[in-house]
Amino acid sequence: MKRLFDFNEVINREFSNSLKYDARKSVFGTPNVIPLWVADMDFASPPGVRNALLQRSNHPIYGYSNFPESIYEALIDWFNRRHGWSIERDWIVLSPGVVTSLHAAVLAFTNPEDAVIVQPPVYFPFFSAVNELGRSLINNPLRLKDGQYQIDFEHLETCASNAKMLLLCSPHNPVGRVWRAEELKQLLSIAEKHDLIIVSDEIHADLVYLPVVFQSLQKISNVRKNIITAVAPSKTFNIPGLNLSALIIPEIAQREAVNTIFKKMAINLANPFSMVAFEAAYQEGDIWLDELLEYLQETRNFVIEYIKDNLFPIQASAPEATYLIWLDCRDMGLDDTSLQNFFTYKAGVGLSPGLIFGDAGSGFMRMNIAAPKSIIMDALLRITAALRLHTK
Ligand SMILES: Cc1ncc(COP(=O)(O)O)c(C=O)c1O
Repeated sequence: MKRLFDFNEVINREFSNSLKYDARKSVFGTPNVIPLWVADMDFASPPGVRNALLQRSNHPIYGYSNFPESIYEALIDWFNRRHGWSIERDWIVLSPGVVTSLHAAVLAFTNPEDAVIVQPPVYFPFFSAVNELGRSLINNPLRLKDGQYQIDFEHLETCASNAKMLLLCSPHNPVGRVWRAEELKQLLSIAEKHDLIIVSDEIHADLVYLPVVFQSLQKISNVRKNIITAVAPSKTFNIPGLNLSALIIPEIAQREAVNTIFKKMAINLANPFSMVAFEAAYQEGDIWLDELLEYLQETRNFVIEYIKDNLFPIQASAPEATYLIWLDCRDMGLDDTSLQNFFTYKAGVGLSPGLIFGDAGSGFMRMNIAAPKSIIMDALLRITAALRLHTK
């Protein structure tokens, strides 16, 4: 069936101050790479979002603004409709970005030198949210078993007795896991036993591939305390540059603690553009997202098959969520610097080095496939050619 939205359209992003495209020289040392690194998409945002922004920009005054109630309603309806999760109006705290939310939660609920658990390989700001704020980092590495990453609950149990907080990535970037209800329940029971606060970063919750179904940690918990959830329309609708997200904090004192951190920073969030984009995305983005997920799933399946058939000895498992492929390059026999140089200079493809996600990412590279299939195909062909020379 013909789609309403054309994800095959190649849109030139160069010279738009795009980090992904216009920072290539400083990030990779060369502008001549197909950029498949930072996690945004090379697709136009949904028409509803673009129209809302155009309409707002047509009003010629961009003054101090105020959040309308409708923005909260749009978020509540979205999570009800898409995830069967009932969020109460009072639980919502708007926040600039999810990384800011992680930092705010660490500041609000831990003291200097308290221990915070992370589960590497993991999105690198999880480390900085702990290290830069002078907290102590405890690694509870995921275990790779038969191509699938799992939580090491036994090890977590030993970490939990010394820690105040766990930063959970759910779904997980970079490994693409969607934690199942049983896994989340096990996590909750360890957290309850040790009075651990869980900050659940659910920014990728909407980017989950059927038949897998996402479960929010808070939704399956019987308790309304000690779970801080970060959500955003930014990854879902390709508006991360607009910087507006939300925290869901059911417990009033915990909500106040986060609000106090924001108050101390005098953060003014009410940007007239980000608020209309946020609301329109959650109100009108369903069909666009359904089609995007179909497109990404086709691309994901193709890429995984292609890797199996053509990119030996590189291996990859299909992510259950996210548009990020975690390439296992350990059998290429290269150290991490040589591996990065291989992709950048030999293949001409700009990927994220696995090592930024922690030591457990050594020998891996992360590839962002949220681009028209022609771009992804071009990148795969470049890697194929470079690999032929490498293995000769
Ligand atoms: C797990 C995760 N959290 C947070 C972010 C960034 O969120 P924000 O741009 O809202 O700070 C990303 C972006 O890649 C991510 O993958």
